[in-house]
Amino acid sequence: MAQQAVTGASPGPAQLGEPLLKVRGINKHFGPVQALTNVDLDLYAGQVTALCGDNGAGKSVLTKCIAGIYQIDGGQFFWESKPVAIHSPRDSSALGIETVYQDLALADNLDIVQNMFLGREQIRNGLLNEDDMERSAGKTLSSLRVTTVRSIRQPVASLSGGQRQSVAVAKAVMWNSKLVMLDEPTAALGVVQTNQVLQLVRRLRERGLAVMVISHNLNDVFEVADRIAVLHLGRMAGQDRADAFDRQSVVDYMTTGASTRSRRADGDGEKRGQS
Ligand SMILES: Nc1ncnc2c1ncn2[C@@H]1O[C@H](COP(=O)(O)OP(=O)(O)OP(=O)(O)O)[C@@H](O)[C@H]1O
Ligand SMILES: [Mg+2]
Repeated sequence: MAQQAVTGASPGPAQLGEPLLKVRGINKHFGPVQALTNVDLDLYAGQVTALCGDNGAGKSVLTKCIAGIYQIDGGQFFWESKPVAIHSPRDSSALGIETVYQDLALADNLDIVQNMFLGREQIRNGLLNEDDMERSAGKTLSSLRVTTVRSIRQPVASLSGGQRQSVAVAKAVMWNSKLVMLDEPTAALGVVQTNQVLQLVRRLRERGLAVMVISHNLNDVFEVADRIAVLHLGRMAGQDRADAFDRQSVVDYMTTGASTRSRRADGDGEKRGQS
């Protein structure tokens, strides 16, 4: 399945099996603001799902609900088909969910190894096991073919935006994660660095991980996504295979919550917009 996705052909729903994570009927409000209303989302292993939506649509809130940072008001998560409760970031990471936040991903004053092991430092005989941590960090970075970093003992403050994102992603995959969520990973990046990050996203897919990428950039979306889900004012306006959308229909869903353009005509699309 993963191999097929790498070649660009996204498997149809019949071959995908059950989603790794099924989100059903999620509601979340902050005081009078209803941020999410009855949201469904399916995230599949070996697939990149782009989560799109205009500013304030609810993308970050949905991500944080899945990450356990926000408590949901109602709804249910299913992980590998079983109902699960996510009440804290600890619950989320215990399932194998890692989140890369654009801004607070890394500690500037620490080096790459320290960042990758932050909060999970390895101790031997009461001391930090620097050698092992350095070896694991180096191995993870090279397995993801992150090659532009000069030294893994470099403070993260000295890295470029793309390198920082790469380290944040490597940190996420080092912990046997099954689902990696990236909130706007390319927003601050130039063309070359954006391509590096998108390449990294493809490698996560090759490894069979489920990847969710939030992006405003439709070039990026159509470049890497196997599936697209569009939020509009806190509701899931539509989600389907990426080839069921074109740019205009994604823009339509983003701006109006609906699209009059016809979707894929082969009949196996599971159009799942709801209101
Ligand atoms: N902590 C909070 N307290 C109150 N309201 C919030 C909070 N977080 C988000 N909201 C509101 O929830 C809605 C969805 O916000 P969210 O951050 O998810 O948008 P987004 O889709 O990520 O937008 P952007 O593309 O601008 O990042 C917005 O109306 C926002 O004001
Ligand atoms: Mg956001």
